[in-house]
Amino acid sequence: MKHLKAIMLAAGKSKRMKTKTPKILHPIMGKPMIDYVLDSCDAAGIEEVILVVGHEREKVMDYLEERVKYALQEEQMGTGHAVMQAMPLLEDFSGDVIILCGDMPLLSPDTLAVFINQHRKSESRVSLLTAIMGDPGKLGRIVRNKDGSVEKIVEAVDATPDELKINEVNTGTYIFDADYLREILPAIGLPNAQKEIYLTDTILISREVGEKVFAMSCPDYRESLGVNSRADMAKASKVIRERINHDLMMSGVTIYDPDNTYIEKTVEIGNDTVILPGCMIMGKTAIGSDCVIGPNSRISNSKIARGSTVVESVLNEAEVGEENSIGPFAHMRPGSKTDKLVKVGNFVEIKKSTIGEDTKISHLSYVGDATIGKHVNIGAGTITCNYDGERKHPTSIRDNVFIGSNTSLIAPVVLGEGARTGAGAVIRKDVPDWTLAVGRPARNIKKLENPDDEIMK
Ligand code: UD1
Ligand code: CA
Repeated sequence: MKHLKAIMLAAGKSKRMKTKTPKILHPIMGKPMIDYVLDSCDAAGIEEVILVVGHEREKVMDYLEERVKYALQEEQMGTGHAVMQAMPLLEDFSGDVIILCGDMPLLSPDTLAVFINQHRKSESRVSLLTAIMGDPGKLGRIVRNKDGSVEKIVEAVDATPDELKINEVNTGTYIFDADYLREILPAIGLPNAQKEIYLTDTILISREVGEKVFAMSCPDYRESLGVNSRADMAKASKVIRERINHDLMMSGVTIYDPDNTYIEKTVEIGNDTVILPGCMIMGKTAIGSDCVIGPNSRISNSKIARGSTVVESVLNEAEVGEENSIGPFAHMRPGSKTDKLVKVGNFVEIKKSTIGEDTKISHLSYVGDATIGKHVNIGAGTITCNYDGERKHPTSIRDNVFIGSNTSLIAPVVLGEGARTGAGAVIRKDVPDWTLAVGRPARNIKKLENPDDEIMK
């Protein structure tokens, strides 16, 4: 099989983004734009990518490191000039060279693979990926001859009114035979010319030298969307979101309202799980089957086991066991881990704590740096006072403990198996197994002389 390498153009300044960050590093659905294009190249079997960098190149190189080779384009003198900068790295290469842009995150690996195949079948030495769209705007137009063959590409600025009406456009994606590319590049301009050097001119020149140009159009024109602004980013994000949600639905996940559900590609979800509107599920999150998630939950880098529900809650680096009930309005922070049948109810915050089977923390609690056993009931308003202003201290609550409402557990502290605390208790010492610790009850009950007087005296 013929070898295949890529030249990817990414030297241009992205004025319309109005950003400090190089355009191709801006994330779309949690992943930098450039990663989409590079992943598609990997999937399509491209052996090596030469990235043409210029503007803000240090940041790009810091991010991509050794994943690509770099060619430097000092001054952005056009797409043809950009390709010329990559050629020294292809000096001894014979095979196919695919040229594409780093700002096309929607180009799918499938389309890329079909394009490569079709190019090879066509036996052309130059091929072009086009797209047909209703509003071609500023994109280069594909001018075809009466017999349907490609004549040239005209840039919108250089086009006649008739040419502007053409709705087949250049996606900026080409395949050239490496020898042919070397042969033809000098013909499109000199590196020192005043005007931009257009890569598109290679097409007209091919025609002139009698070289057949093969063109294939994208099955879905949206794949050719080049991202030039934050508005384009939102468009691209919508398409990627649709693709991800579609795949999940096909794999057996119910999504009530895909337009209002943001799930990143890295997320895994089991079948018969239902995702309600307004959820953002991100990073390396894995959700089992038969769960109900949402509405309105934000879940990142977390695991949720089979049969659990998460309602209006925020989870980050948390691990939820089977058949849990989380929320509404729970916050599970990094290091929270629950066993099966746990309840974490309204306005409960959990941080770096493990919670045993069948334990209930139903209302208004803060649990931090705690280890809680099985069948424990944590009363409403219980707080682990884990922080003394300098250091964090652990709380250990053994099996079958019953914590009365509004208990303050001043850590470090251990509550032995079956221990109980009275409502409002302030626990400063360990409570042994099967003992009761009662705190400070209201001592006086007196008649109110005047109901407007202060109550607590
Ligand atoms: C180019 C094509 C146009 C096509 C469009 C698709 C030319 C002359 N025109 O338009 O037919 O419809 O792409 O998006 O090729 N770049 C460099 N160095 C440069 C100039 C550009 O690396 O000197 C890079 C940009 O970073 C970008 C890509 O090339 O990734 C395309 O550049 P852009 O200016 O967006 O495209 P146009 O030249 O307007
Ligand atoms: Ca340009």
